[in-house]
Amino acid sequence: MVIIAPSILSADFAALGAEVAEAEASGADWIHVDVMDGHFVPNITLGPAITAAVKAHTSLPLDVHLMIENPERYIADFAAAGASVITVHAEACVHLHRVVHQIKELGLMAGVAINPGTPAAAVREVLEDVDLVLVMTVNPGFGGQAFIPRMLRKITQIREWAGEINHKGLRIEVDGGIAEATASLVAEAGADVLVAGNAVFGRSDRAGAIRVIREAADG
Ligand code: DX5
Ligand code: ZN
Repeated sequence: MVIIAPSILSADFAALGAEVAEAEASGADWIHVDVMDGHFVPNITLGPAITAAVKAHTSLPLDVHLMIENPERYIADFAAAGASVITVHAEACVHLHRVVHQIKELGLMAGVAINPGTPAAAVREVLEDVDLVLVMTVNPGFGGQAFIPRMLRKITQIREWAGEINHKGLRIEVDGGIAEATASLVAEAGADVLVAGNAVFGRSDRAGAIRVIREAADG
């Protein structure tokens, strides 16, 4: 069963409470929170205060995607804000293994993300330690970009490694350009958490949008 995580990056930022409540009522499983610092990626979004405000309007797990430098400085703050999953970028962590364990020690699910230009091997040494790998299917920074098909083989490779180390519960998440057509491709490759920004919040019928993605993925 796939998890569908609408990204609030494409929601109305002035009405986030209503937007996440509607996503929950429309069948979302997680709420994806995109945190950008203007350094790691060329855009700035939100921080722990807005994350906590969002948390007050939904009972769904918050899936916090940190696209920031020095993420270790902010993990405790996002945990306190109500995150259930915290994902850091491998490219942003000199001491990736330490950061992953910092997240786990707070009792949260720990994820590691890789950009399109980063090889799958960047997560290999922490695969045993993480609950989730996020394979970026666009270059992070903005919603509404085109899916990069070459990322499919990275998903397959990571799923294969997870099998080799018997990490059956490993979640593989994809983020960027996910809609009906791409959902089936990523699910077939082995992804089981699908982030969708534009394809959910860009539509007026959120329940229909989530259903279409879920049906495409579950095949
Ligand atoms: C991209 C963000 C994504 C983004 C996806 O930098 O990490 O979560 O919101 O948006 P769509 O689904 O519109 O490509
Ligand atoms: Zn994201």
